[in-house]
Amino acid sequence: MKISVKAGALEQEKTELLVVNLFEERLPAVENRLDKALQGFLRKVREKGDFKGESKQTLLLYPQGGVGAERVLLVGLGKMRELDREKLRAGSAAAVRRAKDIGVKSFTLAVPGTSRRDLPLDEKLWALVEGALLSNYQLTEYRTEELDKIKDVQEVKFLVERSQDLAAAQRGARRGETISEAVNWTRTLANYPGNKATPTFLAQEARKLAKEERLDCRILDRAEMEKLGMGALLAVAQGSQQPPKFIILEYKPSGRIRGRYAVVGKGITFDSGGISIKPSKSMEEMKYDMSGAAATMGLARVAARLKLPFHLIFLAPATENLPSGAAVKPGDVVRSLSGKTVEIINTDAEGRLILADALAYVQRYKPDGIIDMATLTGAVVVALGSHATGMLGNNDALKGKIRRAGEESGERVWELPLWKEYYEAIKSSIADVKNVGDGKAGTIAGAAFLGKFVGDVPWVHLDIAGTAWNETGNGWMGKGSTGVGVRLLTRFLLNEMGKKK
Ligand code: BES
Ligand code: ZN
Ligand code: ZN
Repeated sequence: MKISVKAGALEQEKTELLVVNLFEERLPAVENRLDKALQGFLRKVREKGDFKGESKQTLLLYPQGGVGAERVLLVGLGKMRELDREKLRAGSAAAVRRAKDIGVKSFTLAVPGTSRRDLPLDEKLWALVEGALLSNYQLTEYRTEELDKIKDVQEVKFLVERSQDLAAAQRGARRGETISEAVNWTRTLANYPGNKATPTFLAQEARKLAKEERLDCRILDRAEMEKLGMGALLAVAQGSQQPPKFIILEYKPSGRIRGRYAVVGKGITFDSGGISIKPSKSMEEMKYDMSGAAATMGLARVAARLKLPFHLIFLAPATENLPSGAAVKPGDVVRSLSGKTVEIINTDAEGRLILADALAYVQRYKPDGIIDMATLTGAVVVALGSHATGMLGNNDALKGKIRRAGEESGERVWELPLWKEYYEAIKSSIADVKNVGDGKAGTIAGAAFLGKFVGDVPWVHLDIAGTAWNETGNGWMGKGSTGVGVRLLTRFLLNEMGKKK
């Protein structure tokens, strides 16, 4: 989808479709002008109560002259004082959906003027562009039939009234575009079925990305992992025919470095559970068990494109988790890269095993902070559903920053405790630690396990099992992978940039 920004008066805009955002409160300046151009149409619609301006409400009008547009689509944004970035995203997404329905390929959206100082124009454009690009996304690669029914919008023009606002609007639009493009790439990686998105495929994509964006890339293969002693990761991989890959991407800014962060993502390209096999119902969804790895790679893409002033290390341990005669068994004990021994009670708690070795590996970079993203537990879906990512960690300051980035990016997080008492549940009678807890607080047990491998480095664990996948298609984003984590951590890094160090 092509995104552009222009300045002009909305009633003069020549377009197939003009989208006008309105609030529940009337804005006399815009509405009177538009109403006049529409020969009283708007006032009538308001008076009749057919369009109240509620969030996501839409009404399509076919004006008989008076304006340059062939169609006018009113899109509600709710109450002006309750306007936030998420309502802007939902607003532009509603416009895209409606345009798709009627087969309009290109439209102009008049950027709503507000007196809200906390939502400057560049932030508004950023959110509007995200809503448009993320809602327009679909994976069509596998379709060969009814291709004419696949509809998408090819161009959105954002219209601001005053030409002196163009620069700020363009800046925000560009940022929204860069981020959304990376989110959609992440979504494609996660939406790909397990027979396409294998560990080898992810490694190839990482190499391609590194070449395009001038990142450093190293891929460790099985032999190198053996040499290093990544016994936990290798235990998960040993039941699969697909070779595991340990993906390392590194980004260094050209100027001054404002800090060093490591991002680690779970890359189970298919999780059958292994010998502790999962029930067959919905098992196909376990292709998205590499969403953390995909988001990690997506973030690498954004970091390079936005030229962020941080030294960033991206790790994505990748393997399948399958049962076979060679697979790891419940009760097996393995030695992890950290030297700690692990009793594997349940082979379906595999994510924490591969992350344990990645978290130990990342220590050599001496990061100022580590953030991991993983579809780690079904328990987080029970606790938080799909509207919040579970957040746990060892550092209040870092958690606070991630929480704020969550509110602003629309990828919200909710904290669960990780008190030292929770570490009791993962003590093993034979090894240093076991890979499951006592059956209670499963998300916390998973985080506690990871906590054993991060040392003292400030660390946040994000359990994205409930947020990485949209099974219903509810909300403005559409079905399948959400690419969660990319917008969240981009926002976190951009916020960090704004601060003096
Ligand atoms: N990949 C799953 C977690 C998951 C479940 C992600 C549902 C998305 C949706 C993970 O590897 C897993 O199976 N976890 C187990 C842990 C248990 C055995 C301690 C779980 O949550 O049941
Ligand atoms: Zn599992
Ligand atoms: Zn898993």
